[in-house]
Amino acid sequence: MKKHLVVVGSINLDLVSTAPRIPLSGETLTATGFATFPGGKGANQAFAAARLGTPVSMIGMLGNDSFGTELRANLKSAGVDTKAVHETATSSGIAQIITSEGGENVIVVAPGANALVSASFLEKHIDLIRSSGMVLTQLEIPLETVQYLAEVTRKESIPLMLDPAPAQPLPSSLLKSVEWLTPNESETCSLLGLKSQDVSTEAMKEVAEILLQRGSRNVLLKLGQRGCYLALADGGRIFIPAYSVRAIDSTAAGDAFNGAFASALLQGHHPVRSASWATAVAAVSVTRHGAQPSMPTHAEVEAFLKEREGTEQPV
Ligand code: ATP
Ligand code: RIB
Repeated sequence: MKKHLVVVGSINLDLVSTAPRIPLSGETLTATGFATFPGGKGANQAFAAARLGTPVSMIGMLGNDSFGTELRANLKSAGVDTKAVHETATSSGIAQIITSEGGENVIVVAPGANALVSASFLEKHIDLIRSSGMVLTQLEIPLETVQYLAEVTRKESIPLMLDPAPAQPLPSSLLKSVEWLTPNESETCSLLGLKSQDVSTEAMKEVAEILLQRGSRNVLLKLGQRGCYLALADGGRIFIPAYSVRAIDSTAAGDAFNGAFASALLQGHHPVRSASWATAVAAVSVTRHGAQPSMPTHAEVEAFLKEREGTEQPV
């Protein structure tokens, strides 16, 4: 029987305006397009893994509004088990996103029901967590909940993958309970207290070592269109370049990556092979609009890799 993945995290409706560029403070621009998409870092990662064929259960909260109904239905359509997604008398999480025609984006999240994913709520689903092969979480739910989850997974020896997004300072007790820490560039800088938002290719090795010293057993740095850098507990170090694709919307590229990476690790693949697979999944996702609608199926990733055969290999 396939082991299942548990995702504890946020579920949002993304309200996405496309503008010629990201507006300056105080400036009003006219959008060239608008669309809504199912999103939220937790739900995106659960959706991505399920689309690839991994058994996934999501633990989270929705509001008792029409957005909540739509968001649950979308998760179910990919095969995500939503029995541990509860509804509460508040609004569902919302993300207001502006994407520029140049491919940048800015996001403001109104947590709504996601703020109610508490430690006591997780306790109701403790058996589900205990039965999982891996747990995946992010920081769009309260930090105390993530800390509680990390205590549970450490005690139960269940690998925990933490996507430290959106960035915030993290206690070392939490980092020490993490098997996989997967920050993007700006989150890496924030974790290290750096002013810069970018991690140069020269600096990536050094920053990964510092994050390992802070306590996470393994570190995977997501470096946007450059690719990713893996620093493993067994001493393995490797940079995996991204595929060159015509990117139209990078929203949730990191979520596509995490869902795929966790799925491959859960199936017992080596971390390098798993990251290489996740690189292909994320590359396909950036060629499509929206968060969850951009996540490819296993067959679509295989087709993408076949097309690229002989032209380039990520490792
Ligand atoms: P997001 O916050 O948009 O979900 P992120 O900032 O967490 O994403 P990124 O580092 O931007 O994560 O992207 C994750 C992975 O997706 C990268 O490591 C890379 O493999 C792939 N990727 C991102 N952008 C591109 C691109 N333009 N072309 C190809 N692959 C990409
Ligand atoms: O990582 C992308 C996600 O961040 C979006 O779907 C949005 O909901 C925000 O949570």
